[in-house]
Amino acid sequence: MRNILITGGAGFIGSNLALALQAKYPDARLVVTDDFRSGSFANLQGYRGDIVAGDISRLDWQAQFKDDVFDAIFHEASITDTTIHDQFLQVHDNVEGFRRLLEFASATHTPVVYASSAATYGIASARMKEDQPPAPANVYAFSKVQLDNLARIYCRNHASWRIVGVRYFNVFGPHEAHKKAAASMIYQLYLQMKAGRRPRVFRTGEQKRDFVYVKDAARMTIQALGAPESTFYNCGTGQAFSFNEVITELNKNLGTRLEPEYFENPYSFYQPHTEADMTLAKNELKFTPEYSPAAGIADYVAILEGRKTG
Ligand SMILES: NC(=O)c1ccc[n+]([C@@H]2O[C@H](COP(=O)([O-])OP(=O)(O)OC[C@H]3O[C@@H](n4cnc5c(N)ncnc54)[C@H](O)[C@@H]3O)[C@@H](O)[C@H]2O)c1
Repeated sequence: MRNILITGGAGFIGSNLALALQAKYPDARLVVTDDFRSGSFANLQGYRGDIVAGDISRLDWQAQFKDDVFDAIFHEASITDTTIHDQFLQVHDNVEGFRRLLEFASATHTPVVYASSAATYGIASARMKEDQPPAPANVYAFSKVQLDNLARIYCRNHASWRIVGVRYFNVFGPHEAHKKAAASMIYQLYLQMKAGRRPRVFRTGEQKRDFVYVKDAARMTIQALGAPESTFYNCGTGQAFSFNEVITELNKNLGTRLEPEYFENPYSFYQPHTEADMTLAKNELKFTPEYSPAAGIADYVAILEGRKTG
């Protein structure tokens, strides 16, 4: 691994990934490309690689990277705020960015690992498995389904080329503060409790999420390069953890005893439950998460509280 490109590298997962790649391959040349629409330079403290500032859905990839042959491309760039309902913008920027990347990479069959999402499964109440039909409930999720479709189409035309999707569930951890309202529920509740307020959650707080720590998400994204064939993998812990359980863990790690304050859910569609079936990632990538949700929260709070470095 001498030459690696990371799109969306100033974002939450992208910056954790860029720094993990830098630690794993200290002699590699890393290139991050990002247009900073939702990411932040602050996430790349300590990064020693190159940066190309630009919108990948409008970038002339061939002109920009004409002399580069990358050993791998990790694609994290995306509009990630699911409350952006401009259908043209979500579909154009998310899908065309990926299409341009694939067109560029197709000449050399550079392995590509791209960010898909558990949002593609839609509203469910049981474990989500990769072969389930997609059921996107918003235009963000729809755009992610189109990435999976595009990957399938390109693979069909280039059988020996690896294009691997990673379907992140609810990722949390360092470098997500810039996402503000779109940051994880764990971070939102931490901020409220840190300010001495009771944590506010939808009644009854028993909604469950598969919360995966970003250190595990970055590690699995790198391991996805070793996939035996083009496909996509769930990226979670395989455990559904309730908002009430998150509050219990935050109280434990903050030394507080703040009771949840419940309020009515105003949304007609809201995922009551996300839970990844991790069988495929375990069998094919030999990936098992290092952090349970509770261990991830403990590590994260220690970092947020300045008791340890990220
Ligand atoms: N965080 C999660 O829980 C989660 C869950 C499922 C899927 N994902 C996916 O993982 C990827 C990373 O998400 P994140 O949480 O780090 O979000 P993020 O918003 O922090 O990162 C996305 C990055 O992409 C950049 N970007 C957006 N559009 C771009 C474009 N057209 N050209 C160049 N840069 C662009 C943004 O500036 C930002 O730095 C995304 O593809 C997202 O859809 C994340």
